[in-house]
Amino acid sequence: MDEPLVLGIETSCDETGIGIVRGRTLLADAVASSVDEHARFGGVVPEVASRAHLEAMVPTLDRACETAGVRLQDVDAVAVTSGPGLAGALLVGVAAAKALAIGLGKPLHGVNHLAAHVAVDQLEHGPLPEPCLALLVSGGHSSLLRVDDVTAGVDPLGATIDDAAGEAFDKVARLLGLGFPGGPLVDSAAASGSSVAIDFPRGLTSRRDLERHRFDFSFSGLKTAVARWVEARERAGEPVPVGDVAASFQEAVCDVLVRKTLDAAATSGVEDLLIGGGVAANSRLRVMAVERAEKVGVRVRVPRPGLCTDNGAMVAALGAEAVRRGRAPSDLDLPADSSLPVTEVLT
Ligand code: KG4
Ligand code: ZN
Repeated sequence: MDEPLVLGIETSCDETGIGIVRGRTLLADAVASSVDEHARFGGVVPEVASRAHLEAMVPTLDRACETAGVRLQDVDAVAVTSGPGLAGALLVGVAAAKALAIGLGKPLHGVNHLAAHVAVDQLEHGPLPEPCLALLVSGGHSSLLRVDDVTAGVDPLGATIDDAAGEAFDKVARLLGLGFPGGPLVDSAAASGSSVAIDFPRGLTSRRDLERHRFDFSFSGLKTAVARWVEARERAGEPVPVGDVAASFQEAVCDVLVRKTLDAAATSGVEDLLIGGGVAANSRLRVMAVERAEKVGVRVRVPRPGLCTDNGAMVAALGAEAVRRGRAPSDLDLPADSSLPVTEVLT
């Protein structure tokens, strides 16, 4: 059989993504973002996101088909993010996917958003090494996973115990007055600062913490440390060196992420690492991970930034892998599950 033509739908947060792939080849990746509508609130407003998905769904679907040069009836399967994410936002995607699957008479595959962030790399760098470690860092999640089979065997090694890495970037951007979403803004502000100017804390790295949380992350203490530092400067009537704060904060986040990930690689003997999720677009994280991994013989794969942030191609990529491996499709009463565990890859 030819490689399957799979349409993927992503609506777990504020991006309406429609991706079309043939096997591991990306044909279209149409994304409509409602991020501008959330900016004045400093974070994603769930009801606003749901409405925006409703409005963007059909035009984005049309755009993806046009780019890919395919008709909907040519599609072999429909994949959709069924969780985790914002409940109302997920529902829009799941309802659209069911409508398409029923209308076209094609199988429906509900997939896990986090595993899709891993699977997307196949579109750029070919089949995933098995096993591999995956560091997933986004606005909603920070997880370290061992992936033996992206459609079936995903084991969590660690996760954040408080804020997600991207959330920390967003909060620090807000307190530096940089805007939303904060990651890219902190990233570019950091370029003009020094990463060693301020010694911010590295969460969960003390000997005691490592006993219980060796592969877990914590960014809430770091965020508070940045807030206190900035407040002290303001109280003293001194200007806040935004570049230095951004660079030193970014260094602290990346240092902990990379250190713990490489510790997990050494412990498990896994020599391939994949970094995914919105924060994987961070320029310092990409450089630091590659530099340090090279020294210990670990190979690193990071999708290009556009595939790291939420998109439909990642969902189509995981759906296509499920079809390739002969996984059973989902029932048509597939629910949207806002707190879907990462171990449930196909739903
Ligand atoms: O994966 P994603 O698009 O959505 C979620 O599933 O959350 O990730 C969005 C997050 C936001 O917190 C954003 O600030 C962060 O990824 N982000 C970055 C960068 N680009 C996006 N964080 C750090 N540096 C970046 N260059
Ligand atoms: Zn995501």
